[in-house]
Amino acid sequence: MADYITLIKDIIKIVKNADGIVKKHNFTIQKKSTNEDIVTSADIEVQNYLCSELKKLLPSSGFLCEEQHLIDNKNEFTWVIDPIDGTTNFSRNISECVISIALLSRNVPVIGVVYAPFKHYLFSAVAGHGAKLNGKRICVSDKTFKDSLFCTAMSLYRKEYAEICRDIIFDVYNKCNDFRRFGSCALELCYLAAGKCDLYFEIRVFPWDYAASYLILKEAGGVLKGLNGENLSYDKPTVLVGANNLENYEKLNDIIKKYLKELPYTENL
Ligand code: IPD
Ligand code: CA
Ligand code: CA
Repeated sequence: MADYITLIKDIIKIVKNADGIVKKHNFTIQKKSTNEDIVTSADIEVQNYLCSELKKLLPSSGFLCEEQHLIDNKNEFTWVIDPIDGTTNFSRNISECVISIALLSRNVPVIGVVYAPFKHYLFSAVAGHGAKLNGKRICVSDKTFKDSLFCTAMSLYRKEYAEICRDIIFDVYNKCNDFRRFGSCALELCYLAAGKCDLYFEIRVFPWDYAASYLILKEAGGVLKGLNGENLSYDKPTVLVGANNLENYEKLNDIIKKYLKELPYTENL
């Protein structure tokens, strides 16, 4: 078995070295699937850098990366990478953006690292060893539903689902404390892990958005599932429903199911 405790130290060194790329200030922006879906030259540069360095750590590993359809997930080990999660924030100089790296062993996350270079937050987890923020153990909050902060989004890249999201957000908002839309799924799930927020819903996200922070959240004691309570997979987009504990997860999921009876899309990567 690979020594994940040693491996994560090397991954952290590599991700911190990407600082030089994300803080360069000169990048170009291109549109992808929609007007809102963008990629910058920094996204591509970070991805290329991470892939070449991470491959050296585990030469027989594959990759599942957001940019340039880099999908090679047939090996025992797969790196799941979002080179910049929160690209719109990044492109507008807003600090809520992260580099997200997960290592899957036979499709199960064993290491998660989420680095927010402009906030100096390094979230990390090794399966079975707890979750950390800047080296210190973190855990989810003990907030009740009515005192919860709810992180969510309006389906930016598929605006046809915005009405469903609006109805869900409005209903949850009336039953909890308040809601937030920070613009980085990976960071928001880490905020949930660290007790900074307590509930999470998004209608369509991809494995690179959540693979690393899922493990960090799980190791911090939180819950994160698909629409029908299923465990997350790493080969298609999914609904995400998350909470600080099972009771709040079930309350949130009951509200979501009122407006979203079944997955509104069928897609693979
Ligand atoms: C997006 C961010 C955003 C979420 C979207 C993601 P990107 O990732 O995580 O918060 O609402 O679903 O696609 O495009 O910035 O890597
Ligand atoms: Ca991205
Ligand atoms: Ca993303």
